[in-house]
Amino acid sequence: MKTALITGISGQDGAYLANFLLKKKYKIIGLDRRSSRDDRWRLDFFNISQKIIFEYSDLTETTSLERIFKKYPINEVYNLGAQSFVGSSFDTPITTSNVNALGCLRMLEVIRNQKRKIKFYQASTSEMFGDVKVSRQNEKTPFNPQSPYAISKLFAYHITKNYRESYGIFTTNGILFNHESPLRGEEFVTRKITIGLAKILSGKSNIIILGNLYSKRDWGFAGDYVEAMWKMMQAKIPEDYVVATGQTFSVKDFINIASNYCGFKILWRGKGVNEVGISSKTKKIIIRVDKKNFRPAEVNYLKGDYSKIKKKLKWKPKMKFKQLVKIMMEEEIKKFVKFM
Ligand code: NAP
Ligand code: GDD
Repeated sequence: MKTALITGISGQDGAYLANFLLKKKYKIIGLDRRSSRDDRWRLDFFNISQKIIFEYSDLTETTSLERIFKKYPINEVYNLGAQSFVGSSFDTPITTSNVNALGCLRMLEVIRNQKRKIKFYQASTSEMFGDVKVSRQNEKTPFNPQSPYAISKLFAYHITKNYRESYGIFTTNGILFNHESPLRGEEFVTRKITIGLAKILSGKSNIIILGNLYSKRDWGFAGDYVEAMWKMMQAKIPEDYVVATGQTFSVKDFINIASNYCGFKILWRGKGVNEVGISSKTKKIIIRVDKKNFRPAEVNYLKGDYSKIKKKLKWKPKMKFKQLVKIMMEEEIKKFVKFM
């Protein structure tokens, strides 16, 4: 039986990965932070909380990380823990860097000091590509990060590669493009939209206020992407891989498809911050734009080229974009609109 340590176990990917690895008979140690919020709801969604061994620690605290490695014979570390919200990183750049950049280094240092061989997965991101100059981004595309988040992740990417090259540790960067699910955090745009529309349908709200509607993302399904993480860790030779769908859609596209599943269309009027979305059913404005939701620097376009992982590890995305929007929308409708 292999033992995996997952940092960020309470997050979206942590839950999908833990569920995936449990099916492969792994013993899971989940790095847990004390929190005043309910942070087990995603694991409860899969009914797996009781199958995980939780250890209190934090990526900002080396000694407590070392304690975990003394206690368990860990084979694989999946470093998913992060301050992962790009918008917040402009408000908390120092904390973001401490957790995302130095947190990764702390973990690598602990691993370097162990006698046993431990494999390390780093949750790298398409945000590192930033202001892109090419239409499809792959492992060879130059990075041009646009936020403290992306810059902190770029440090983590390089130090992960450096520990592989300097010390021969099995380390791998998964450069994952956006991936979503019904378990996505509510601050991210896709879930903000699906919750917002479900609340409007149920009469609990009458408006969704967003930022840049024209930003384009390569959105995949989190359930597919955790399999890619695991495959990278089983490869003979550790390498870095882009994980994406190869398709791109705007925030507006997401809204248009999601509203179809709610039984109405959005009629768009106006331009810039004055642009509004009107429900074809009620004729009321249900989408507005507010400058406060714009970022000081934006990543306008992302579209990944996943041919390397497809060829070398036989991974490809299974869920299509429309299906992803559908499952997210349906899950919210179940929660908010009892009669549908
Ligand atoms: P998420 O839902 O925001 O989860 C982040 C996790 O990190 C939470 O469990 C959080 O714990 C934990 N965390 C935050 N600060 C920590 C600290 N100081 N020490 C230890 N753990 C800490 O993120 P996600 O969507 O699952 O993403 C997982 C990872 O992949 C992140 O590193 C993210 O940056 C990266 N990534 C995500 C995407 C995507 O589209 N989802 C794409 C590329 C890369 P609490 O619950 O206690 O806050
Ligand atoms: N969050 C949010 N809220 N984003 C909005 C809004 C809004 O009201 N309105 C427009 N957007 C735009 C953002 O400006 C961005 O261009 C796009 O929608 C997606 O934003 P997010 O869903 O917050 O995700 P992200 O792309 O910034 O970051 C996510 O994906 C990265 C991978 O590329 C996060 O999961 C990161 O952790 C991850 O690394």
